[in-house]
Amino acid sequence: MNRWILSYDDYDPGTERLREALCTLGNGYFATRGAAPESPAGGAHYPGTYIAGCYDRQAAEVAGRHIDNADLVNMPNWLPLAFRAADGEWLDIDHAQASGRLLSYRQELDVRRGVLTRLVRVRDSRGRTSRVAQRRIVSMHDPHLAALETTVVAEDWSGTAQIVSALDGRVVNAGVARYRGLPEAHLKHTKTAQPDDPELLLLRTRTNSSDIGIAVAARTRASAQTAATRRSEHGWTGHDLTLDLREGVPVTVEKVAAVFTSRDHAVEECGRAALAAAADAGGFDALLERHTSAWSRLWRRCQLSVDHAEVQRALNLHIFHLMQTVSEHSVNLDAGVPARGLHGEAYRGHVFWDELFILPFLTMRFPQIARALLMYRWRRLPAARRAAAAAGRRGAMYPWQSAADGREETQRVHLNPRSGRWLTDHSHLQRHVGLAIALNVWRYYEATGDIEFLGEHGTEIMLEVARFFADLADYDRSTDRYRIHGVMGPDEYHDAYPGRDEPGLDNNAYTNVLTAWVLRRSLDALAALPEDRRKELRERLTLTRQEIIRFEDVARKMHVPFHDGVISQFDGYAELKELDWAGYRERYGDIRRLDRILEAEGDSPNHYKASKQADVLMLFYVLSPGELDDVLRQLGYEHGPALAARTIGYYLPRTCDGSTLSSLVHAWILARTDGDTAWNLFLESLFSDINDAQHGTTGEGVHLGAMAGTVDLVQRCHAGISTRGRTLQLEPRLPTAIGELRLGLRYRGHWGIDMTCRQDLIRVTLRPGATSPIRVSYRAEETEIQPGATWERPLQHGRTEPAQVDVALQGPRNGLWSRPGVTDGRGGDPSAE
Ligand code: BGC
Repeated sequence: MNRWILSYDDYDPGTERLREALCTLGNGYFATRGAAPESPAGGAHYPGTYIAGCYDRQAAEVAGRHIDNADLVNMPNWLPLAFRAADGEWLDIDHAQASGRLLSYRQELDVRRGVLTRLVRVRDSRGRTSRVAQRRIVSMHDPHLAALETTVVAEDWSGTAQIVSALDGRVVNAGVARYRGLPEAHLKHTKTAQPDDPELLLLRTRTNSSDIGIAVAARTRASAQTAATRRSEHGWTGHDLTLDLREGVPVTVEKVAAVFTSRDHAVEECGRAALAAAADAGGFDALLERHTSAWSRLWRRCQLSVDHAEVQRALNLHIFHLMQTVSEHSVNLDAGVPARGLHGEAYRGHVFWDELFILPFLTMRFPQIARALLMYRWRRLPAARRAAAAAGRRGAMYPWQSAADGREETQRVHLNPRSGRWLTDHSHLQRHVGLAIALNVWRYYEATGDIEFLGEHGTEIMLEVARFFADLADYDRSTDRYRIHGVMGPDEYHDAYPGRDEPGLDNNAYTNVLTAWVLRRSLDALAALPEDRRKELRERLTLTRQEIIRFEDVARKMHVPFHDGVISQFDGYAELKELDWAGYRERYGDIRRLDRILEAEGDSPNHYKASKQADVLMLFYVLSPGELDDVLRQLGYEHGPALAARTIGYYLPRTCDGSTLSSLVHAWILARTDGDTAWNLFLESLFSDINDAQHGTTGEGVHLGAMAGTVDLVQRCHAGISTRGRTLQLEPRLPTAIGELRLGLRYRGHWGIDMTCRQDLIRVTLRPGATSPIRVSYRAEETEIQPGATWERPLQHGRTEPAQVDVALQGPRNGLWSRPGVTDGRGGDPSAE
């Protein structure tokens, strides 16, 4: 099996949208779905192009309410390229297949080089056979360029053929069926004068309310052209080419597109910039060479390899999509990382807490990208402060969903497709997003030692988040504890108490424990700064001694609920009913969307001990066992391996993994104690997008948190790397199926650290040229590795934390063990569906 290739040997309209998402090409500035160039949106096809950070807002009436939505805008489509033999029908893949004239089809994504190839053999209704081969790139070298090369061979005929190569701005945001009925049009067109050069096309447009200027230019050139004309309609412009084909002789058409916006740096007017870039781009081969060389540099930095071809291929695909969403080209864009990548319109391109799962991999490979994503949050501190003030609070209240300006973008109603009902959505009550942002800042600092960032930006974020939570916590004199009321934890299936008017839950354990941790770390961050800066910041934020005392007091006295010897997800969780898991599985099969099932039955998950995703268990993911024990100890609660084991064993079977992030978290925390279950959960998470485990959701955009999170799991959990303190701590938990694991990392200013883990050995090399040694700790040993030196020890296996978990899983979860394509971890081909 080729570890770099995702391939399909047939055309399948049923899975075309999934393939479009998985075959998306991008470069961190923009991305285009892997859609058929000849097919406009509709039926099986949804070509979509998205530019990082470009949103537009539209107002609407839904279910009797006034709402407004910011969407990541579907930009003009640069792909359109249609073909036909003269007087024949235009190539239409669906029609060709339905009429039995699609002779062969192959599509191949080469993630090492970032090239999407498509080979189609068709016969038209007059019996003429043609071969069409297409190669496509979105340049990783020049973020504004993309190219499509089409080679046509008339197999058994000679004569003229027609090509239409166009730029189509008449696109709308219609990629997600559930959002239909909401406003879809985000572009307004003005008449665009065409350039003098007859090979060039230009399309200019603007977004409706955000008023971003967009320009797309294209240069189309054919190797055997007899005639070319240009024509334009409102929002559309194209070239008509007539080609002279001779039997068996290939003719190539190259289309190079350039995409610019009015937000770009070093640009006077985006239309002229796009034209100049398209005109100067050079031919497809030259572009390809620069593009593949940029990718090979990226892959050198992303080095992570395992002796398991199928797992490696999925990991490569995930790294590929991550780097296509955020790259060095996004660093100066002021864009966050959308939960569904730049790969589709699900969640409207919004930014959630998912960077929690995405940043660690980036931090240890491309710290400047991680920093840029944190800067996206820093720039939105004013909006978060305004939100806190509007809620009557101090500090910064980050929104659960964020887009352009950092206001709360979470929908207030959502559709249950099962019942057809629009329901009130309370998920904006997930205040914990702010805690994740503060945690991300601290983790970034730990792994990079970037005191500059901490001083200028990071500590401010942490203190303002801490301030919000310290204020949100109410002091209860009768128990001498602080409590947080009316919030939601990560589990989106619990948003209210049955019978209570106000939504929200009290004392969500994840929120409360993390609040205590963040309060302490924000003070650590302040203490880490040089005295002058510390003073400046305190002065600027008017952070008084009294407030600091409050931080410390809340961190010492936060309430954490417990029941039956385990941490409770929230106050009152113990009183909820047990769900008949076996019965629901039997009746519905896949019960990941239990919320929709129950609502359609007139019931609600709020009545049950049934969670969508890891909630309490997130604590075991974001904090190390030592960190969690510290917080609980300081709060005066039980802590340690036995509590951890009971709590993990309790919640696993009560969680249905309705979010792709959930099995990832479970895989991580079980890796310490139950390698086999952990491995299966890891595979479930690893193949969730490739196999479209959520039945149709990947076609609307990949799940970038799970994609990046699985790669990070191999890095930080299997290789056991942690960056706490100033020491690289190693505690590998290597699954036997992985064989040897090799990584290349950056850590605290060191560019090249190579690590190898095998069942019998752990080895770390600091590449020559480093200016200082690194400190490494493994088991009881702490050592310094000098530049150019290698340190190596036999790998000792041994479970430490927590104690053995008794995972009372009630039957196979969501058909994990019957997952298609993956059997024993060696065979199967996840792409061959
Ligand atoms: C999950 C959230 C996640 C969001 C975006 C939801 O289904 O419940 O935790 O942030 O998807 O990925």
